Amino acid sequence: MASSSELLYTEEHNLVRKMAYDFTRNEVMPIIAEHDRNHSFPHELLPRMAQLGFLGICLPACYGGAGMDFLSLGIVSEALEYGDSSVRETVAVHLALHALPIFQWGTEEQKRTFLPGLAAGDQIACFGLTEPGAGSDAAALQARAQRQGGEYILSGEKMWITLADVADRFLVFAKTQPDQGARGISAFILERGWKGLSTGTLEGKMGVRASNTGWINMQEVRVPAEYRLGQEGEGFKIAMSCLDNARFGVAAGSVGIIRACIDESVKYALQRKTFGKPIAEHQLIQQMIAQMQQDLDIGELLVWKAGTLKNQGVRNTRETSMAKWFCTEAARRAADNAVQIHGAYGYSDEYNVERHLRNTKSAVIYEGTSQIHTLMQAAYTLGMREDRPLRCPMPAYDPDAWQ
Ligand code: CAA
Repeated sequence: MASSSELLYTEEHNLVRKMAYDFTRNEVMPIIAEHDRNHSFPHELLPRMAQLGFLGICLPACYGGAGMDFLSLGIVSEALEYGDSSVRETVAVHLALHALPIFQWGTEEQKRTFLPGLAAGDQIACFGLTEPGAGSDAAALQARAQRQGGEYILSGEKMWITLADVADRFLVFAKTQPDQGARGISAFILERGWKGLSTGTLEGKMGVRASNTGWINMQEVRVPAEYRLGQEGEGFKIAMSCLDNARFGVAAGSVGIIRACIDESVKYALQRKTFGKPIAEHQLIQQMIAQMQQDLDIGELLVWKAGTLKNQGVRNTRETSMAKWFCTEAARRAADNAVQIHGAYGYSDEYNVERHLRNTKSAVIYEGTSQIHTLMQAAYTLGMREDRPLRCPMPAYDPDAWQ
């Protein structure tokens, strides 16, 4: 049965939805549990994701993208995370945290140089903001960039970096004016192979095991000045605007997890019997199913609202934060209930729900913990925070110009 949410979207969006869900069901789901078990990255999915346009879904065609809008990024994120969080994370990091900031903040030359290869998947890219001692308090980062003639010399350590060991390109943040707090940070694009740059993989994660998570070490890496993104001192704003893109993908992906939890729980509840009848007929099971459905319906609307504002080129930090906060918490609730509905079987990796439960724990931590989003929302409501216009706003979606 068509879900009512499809009515919020255009025919074109629903074609993207079908293509993305078909990819997830036919190509992701058959292999992802094994990758999760082995903590291995599904490299084989990257060429297909590039071919289907996912790696540049909301970039204009003139930069090699698929020319679709931001709602399409949400739709693809949802469909990929229906299969596994790790696959959605690849698009979030590569596109939302690396390519989109180049599109938003880059010079025309940087856009022409970097974007087509990223959209085609010729290079895979990541984002390096977090450090061993700077997570929620991102402005406390310690990496340093010193200008020397036509170059910057970068030193520092980045930690918990998705795709660190897979990426060819890195968008990293370092202090050019260390005494100026958030206003002393600048953004740089680095390439694998540059002297002094090394990466590694972190072991022992609870979830998102089919994603690569690692560290980036920079020892006096020489970065040409034309690889700086935005102006000197603008890095914190760039990083936060990146998170506006990626948090949207996290929120939409969480909707995909809730949908997966509903589908698997409904199937199980209809066939599993206790006390002489399918467990679907027990009211306490129905309560959990209804809660998941309520969360799905609310989550979809929050994602749609944030995506619509993005399409309009309207600053949406507040709405995106709300969508990320609500949807990740709702997905964790849904995965917890889905395991409960599956009983002992849900505790085994024979079913997908235990993987979703482990994965959802990471989503309430990364891209701003639930606590950071709670504080942001309180500050907005209390009038202590407002979103001001940016020097380089994300352009509104224009179908004629983008395709
Ligand atoms: N876009 C552009 N600019 C923004 C912005 C945004 N979304 N949000 C804030 N800014 C600007 C502000 O306007 C302000 O500019 P001015 O100095 O000109 O006034 C400046 O940035 C400082 O902003 P704040 O005062 O809001 O900053 P703050 O110090 O109060 O803290 C915070 C902000 C909300 C706590 C922020 O540090 C934050 O969001 N922390 C969480 C970090 C995070 O999400 N990390 C995720 C890491 S990446 C990751 O997990 C990806 C992965 O690999 C999976």
